Amino acid sequence: MDYDTRKAWAEAVLSTEEWAIETIAARPQKGESAGCWVRSAQSKALGYLKPRKKSSGRFRAAYEKLASDFAFHLGVNVPPAVLWVRSTAPPAEEKCTAVSLVPQGELYEWSHFASVTNPALKALLRNALKDGSDAPAFDAWMGNQDRGNLDNTLFAFDEERPLFFLDFSNSMDFSGQWTAGDHLKFRRLGLPAMFKESLSRDATRGFAQKILAFPDDKIRGLVSRIPHEFLPADVGEKTTKWLIERKNQLYARFDEWYP
Ligand SMILES: Nc1ncnc2c1ncn2[C@@H]1O[C@H](COP(=O)(O)OP(=O)(O)OP(=O)(O)O)[C@@H](O)[C@H]1O
Ligand SMILES: [Mg+2]
Repeated sequence: MDYDTRKAWAEAVLSTEEWAIETIAARPQKGESAGCWVRSAQSKALGYLKPRKKSSGRFRAAYEKLASDFAFHLGVNVPPAVLWVRSTAPPAEEKCTAVSLVPQGELYEWSHFASVTNPALKALLRNALKDGSDAPAFDAWMGNQDRGNLDNTLFAFDEERPLFFLDFSNSMDFSGQWTAGDHLKFRRLGLPAMFKESLSRDATRGFAQKILAFPDDKIRGLVSRIPHEFLPADVGEKTTKWLIERKNQLYARFDEWYP
């Protein structure tokens, strides 16, 4: 996943490629959104498409794209994503989808490392995890409540930065909590123990400061380019306002959310 590819995906809004579902025996499908592996007929890139399941009032594809765009500009290791209108979707399935680029090589979830005792392997993992010290600040900004599980963070050791952060379905106003008035609420982040122990507090704090400096106009621009079939105009405007207000408080309220 080289920089030029990431940049091209981040700059694109809607994919013009044709994505076909691909079955990968070694990587069974799972997840609430019933996503699936997809291959581009043009570039042959492998992606993960979601959602297939319809869920009214939730803007899963838009959230996935927004989080990956912000992450690209801030340097957080979230795979780049594009929106894709799946016009061939069966009537019961969602047409407004996001495709997230799959990292190279073998992919490992936490479950592979649950019982690691080898000191060299532990050190390797801790190093990869320490490099992810920016993610808690990013998750706190996004209001992401889904980093404590065992599969939304992946290790891909063939990549320059092995630790990848996935799945922003449960972030922002996903269950209407920001609409209900909680958009300035910061929850303490839940993380797997090994991740929590490997974090650099200073790096996370420094990154929160970097988010604080992220320009309001950049947020506005990235939200406003999302097509309205993926994120209605009024929702986009509110989301922009909430994200800007949250960004401005993130650093000062570090002790409320740091895991
Ligand atoms: N870009 C990607 N690269 C590799 N694997 C991915 C990628 N995106 C998703 N996956 C795999 O698919 C699984 C499900 O994806 P994801 O977590 O984004 O959706 P989900 O859990 O179904 O979403 P939701 O939170 O809406 O239920 C992940 O745990 C991961 O194993
Ligand atoms: Mg998930």
